[in-house]
Amino acid sequence: MATSAELREAIAALRDPLLDHTLGELDAVAVAEVTDDGSAQVTLRLPVPGYPAEGALREAAAAAARDLGLEQVAVDIGIMTEEQRQAAVAKAKSKRPSGGGGDEGDIPFNSVESTTKVIAVASGKGGVGKSSITTNLACALAEEGYRVGIMDADIWGYSIPRMMGAGGKPVAFDDLVLPLLAHGVKVISIGFFVDSERPVIWRGPMLHRALQQFLSDVHWGEVDFLLCDLPPGTGDIAISLAQMLPNADMLVVTTPQPAAQRVALRAGQTTAQTGMKVSGVIENMATFIAPDTGREYAIFGEGGGELLAEELSTELLGSIPIDPRLREGADDGRPLVLGEPDAPASKAVRAIAQHLSKQGTSLVGKSLPLQMG
Ligand SMILES: Nc1ncnc2c1ncn2[C@@H]1O[C@H](COP(=O)(O)OP(=O)(O)OP(=O)(O)O)[C@@H](O)[C@H]1O
Ligand SMILES: [Mg+2]
Repeated sequence: MATSAELREAIAALRDPLLDHTLGELDAVAVAEVTDDGSAQVTLRLPVPGYPAEGALREAAAAAARDLGLEQVAVDIGIMTEEQRQAAVAKAKSKRPSGGGGDEGDIPFNSVESTTKVIAVASGKGGVGKSSITTNLACALAEEGYRVGIMDADIWGYSIPRMMGAGGKPVAFDDLVLPLLAHGVKVISIGFFVDSERPVIWRGPMLHRALQQFLSDVHWGEVDFLLCDLPPGTGDIAISLAQMLPNADMLVVTTPQPAAQRVALRAGQTTAQTGMKVSGVIENMATFIAPDTGREYAIFGEGGGELLAEELSTELLGSIPIDPRLREGADDGRPLVLGEPDAPASKAVRAIAQHLSKQGTSLVGKSLPLQMG
C-alpha cells in the first residue's frame, strides 16, 4: 500500500494550470494522508474561494491517488492565508516575460522571451466558422498536450463562452486576473464581464482598452498557443489587435464559394498593412457527407480555399466538412473534437492542429511591425 509520503509526493508534483507551478512549489498541499484502512485524504490549499482551477485540481489529485492504488479518495479544499497567497502570486508572476512598455502596454506575448505562438483567426464574412474553428483547434491542441489559451476578441458578438461551456466571473486577486478554464483551455471573453442580456456597444478607445487588458492584465501564464477569435471583417478590432500583436500569425477562414473567398481576401490583405502574417487558410463547410449514403455534396461550392491560399501566397491548411454535430457541440459547450473525435470534421481539425504545432514557435518579438497609417 502507498504511504502518506508517497501520496504527498505525487500530489505535490501536480501542476496548477493557472499559476504554472507545482502544488509543492505553491505550498498548496495542506494534507496528504493514507489512513489505516487504505483510503486517501487530501486537502489542497487554494489561493481564493471559487478558484477556477479547483475542479481540474480535484480531479487530478483523485487520479494521482488512484494511480497509487488508493481507491477511496477524499479531496477537500482549504484557502491560503494572505501570506501564503502572496508567496504563490509572487512565484506565478516571476515567470512572466516583460513585453516592454510603449503605447500598447506591457504585453508579455511581445517579449523576445515569449515562446507563445499567437494566432488570430479571421475572416471576411461573418458566420463562416471562425469561433467554431478556434474552439475546436484549441481543444485539439490541448489534447496533444499543449498549453492553450483562447482570447475572445469578438467584443460585440462574443460566442466563445457558450461554445466552450465556460461560465462565471473570472477571479482577480493581488493584481492577477485569471482566465477561466474549460476543457483544459484558458479562456477570456468580454462575455464573462458583462450582463449577457445587454449588448456591448463599445467602440474605438473602449474596445482597444478591453483588448489591451485581455492581453496585458490577464495572467495567461505559460501558454504554447494563444488563439484569438476575431469578429468578421477588417474593422476596429482587427486593426487594434494587429497593433497590439504585430507578430501574431493570422489564419483566414473561408467557405468554398468564390464570393466568400473574395471577401476573405480583403481580410487576409489587411495583414500587409500591419505586421501580422497570414500563416494559412482554412476552408470550412467544405462538403456535406450524407450520413445515410456517404455521398458528398459541395453545398457551398468548391475551390474557394485553394484559390484564396494561392492569392495570399500561403497554404490551405485543411478543409472541414459540414457536420450538424459540430453545431450541436457548439451549442452544448463541448467542441466536436472532444464529443465526436472520429467525425471527419474532427479529423480535419486535428490535422490542422498538428500542422500548426509543426510550424514551430513564431517569431514573436523578433521583427518590427510596419507603421500603421
Ligand atoms: N463545419 C460546420 N458544420 C456545421 N455547422 C457549422 C460548421 N462550422 C460552423 N458551423 C455553424 O455555423 C454557425 C456559424 O459558425 P461560427 O459562429 O463558428 O462562425 P463565425 O465565423 O465565428 O461567426 P461570426 O462572424 O458571427 O463570429 C454556427 O452555428 C456553427 O455551429
Ligand atoms: Mg464568431
